[in-house]
Amino acid sequence: MTQAALNGFSHHIMNRWRQLQLSAMDCPEFIPLAWTETESSKMVELAESNYALLSTRRTTRHFSSKSVDKKLVELAILSGSTAPNGAHLQPWTWVAISSHDLKQQIRDAAEAEERKTYEERMPDAWSEVLAPLGTDAVKAHLTDAPWIVVLFKQKKRMRTNGVWGPTYYATESCGIAAGMFIQAVHNMGLVTLTHTPSPMGFLRDILKRPAHEEAMLVMPVGYPAEDAMVPDIQRKGLDEVAVFIE
Ligand SMILES: Cc1cc2nc3c(=O)[nH]c(=O)nc-3n(C[C@H](O)[C@H](O)[C@H](O)COP(=O)(O)O)c2cc1C
Repeated sequence: MTQAALNGFSHHIMNRWRQLQLSAMDCPEFIPLAWTETESSKMVELAESNYALLSTRRTTRHFSSKSVDKKLVELAILSGSTAPNGAHLQPWTWVAISSHDLKQQIRDAAEAEERKTYEERMPDAWSEVLAPLGTDAVKAHLTDAPWIVVLFKQKKRMRTNGVWGPTYYATESCGIAAGMFIQAVHNMGLVTLTHTPSPMGFLRDILKRPAHEEAMLVMPVGYPAEDAMVPDIQRKGLDEVAVFIE
């Protein structure tokens, strides 16, 4: 076969492959929705018990070093990964760390950034709302908690044609996934903290993640310390957060 014929043949194969991909996209497969009706009286009961459970969730900054089974962390990550997400690209990578050395490296780097933030970079408008929470640059939870889960947002994806393409609503998707992860951790009787050291580019370097991934949240997971304290803050009521138009 001549070179020209070979080129033509490979061009034909590529086109055919692309057509097959497109037709697969054009004809999505559907399955019946798995759903069973809940009695309306039971619905209120379920809604109230879920709200009661969520109402007791608190961000905890004081952790015990008591160990936590890896299986529980895996289940929390799987729960987070059930989140609805833009174009079903599931644009998240959860990095779960129990290695003490690695947690220490993360703590050292986070505290170096946090010291600069608290001492030099933090505008008044930020420090005034942080004051009631009693946070500072010391991040003992990063070494005390048995696990740290770092949630990375995938900003891009590799398309089937080998070219990078965007992800869609990755921030929103990862935010929802984090919420579901936090709920799962709370539901299993453990505590977590949504920690956002700023800036957090160091996490990509320490955890050797690729350039298209961006760290969003650092979430220690574990038992609370025996003397754990939380700020005495109140949640807004329904009339302050919602508007109903009927
Ligand atoms: C996106 C985000 C970033 C946060 N960053 C931090 C943080 O860096 N350090 C911290 O101690 N708490 C952090 N928090 C926790 C909040 O301070 C906490 O959720 C808020 O005070 C309400 O308290 P609660 O979670 O106990 O209801 C963060 C929460 C969110 C949602």
